[in-house]
Amino acid sequence: MTGVRAKPWPLLALAALASLAMLATTARSEPSATRGKAVYDSYCVICHGDQGDGKGLMGIIHRAQQNGFVVTVYPRDFTAGVYKFRTTASGDLPTDEDLIRTVTNGIVRSGMPSHKDLTRAQIEDVVEYIKSFSPRWTEELPGDVVEIGPPPKHVGTKASVQKGNEIYALMKCGECHGETGLGDGPSSANLKDDWGDRIVPFDFTSGPLKGGTRTEDLARTFLTGLDGTPMPSYDQTITLDQQWDLVSYCLYLMQGGDEGKSK
Ligand code: HEC
Ligand code: HEC
Repeated sequence: MTGVRAKPWPLLALAALASLAMLATTARSEPSATRGKAVYDSYCVICHGDQGDGKGLMGIIHRAQQNGFVVTVYPRDFTAGVYKFRTTASGDLPTDEDLIRTVTNGIVRSGMPSHKDLTRAQIEDVVEYIKSFSPRWTEELPGDVVEIGPPPKHVGTKASVQKGNEIYALMKCGECHGETGLGDGPSSANLKDDWGDRIVPFDFTSGPLKGGTRTEDLARTFLTGLDGTPMPSYDQTITLDQQWDLVSYCLYLMQGGDEGKSK
């Protein structure tokens, strides 16, 4: 092919350079809670409330239905400074990036919407603002990120699923999540969260995870636990190998177990 028309690359490169230069000159200041309040009042207050206590006008927006019970998922009460979806160890404050991810993507199966229409800067500001509801943020620093690393190749193999099944039994995940992962274990009827509200264990056949859709997100859930809920952290109790076998088993349950496989 001989180039009859001019190739677009030089032009594209120029445009890219120009926008980089613009980014550099419009580089913004630190996130601001004051600007964040304006974002909060437009997008969050309806659910999370003007005191940040989760008692907004639309406080009851989502009901989870599972094995015959109906459970209300309430908006988070920010005054406690306790967060479920963290890359930090159990009991630690989340990183800014954790909160930014949650606000951007929303939380499935809970009514917490995604905010992909907001700019990154608006989200950083609103995250700064929600921190102002709890004194924890002035007393503590966020925890270190728990490194998970990329999933090894054997995740999802039959042997790994089998081993994961044994760890699931050994760690008594079924007490809450049920032997076959339907969220109907013997303890499931009496679980409460830190705010005293009824909560149901994840039904592995009910759809995506609240904390993210990647294989690593699954591993993170049982390594860091979901603070404020009965879902514990298994950081100290399982090895790295066991962790990935457990991921294999959870993925298998999420695909519907043997039934799902034969479809
Ligand atoms: C329609 C109601 C609704 C709106 C609007 C809403 N949220 Fe939420 N939010 C929820 C619910 C419900 C939960 C609890 C989900 C759960 O625990 O499963 C939640 C949880 C959260 C969490 C906690 C995540 C964690 O790790 O525990 C953060 C942070 C959050 N919302 C921030 C925001 C921000 C910031 C806005 C506005 C930009 C916003 N939310 C708008 C309903 C809402
Ligand atoms: C004491 C009860 C209990 C035990 C034991 C327990 N879980 Fe959970 N788990 C829960 C509850 C409750 C939730 C739902 C939290 C929510 O929706 O906010 C949950 C949620 C989850 C989720 C979904 C997270 C998400 O992002 O949506 C996964 C995955 C999970 N548990 C895996 C496990 C595994 C694997 C084990 C065993 C190693 C285990 N759990 C043991 C109570 C428990």
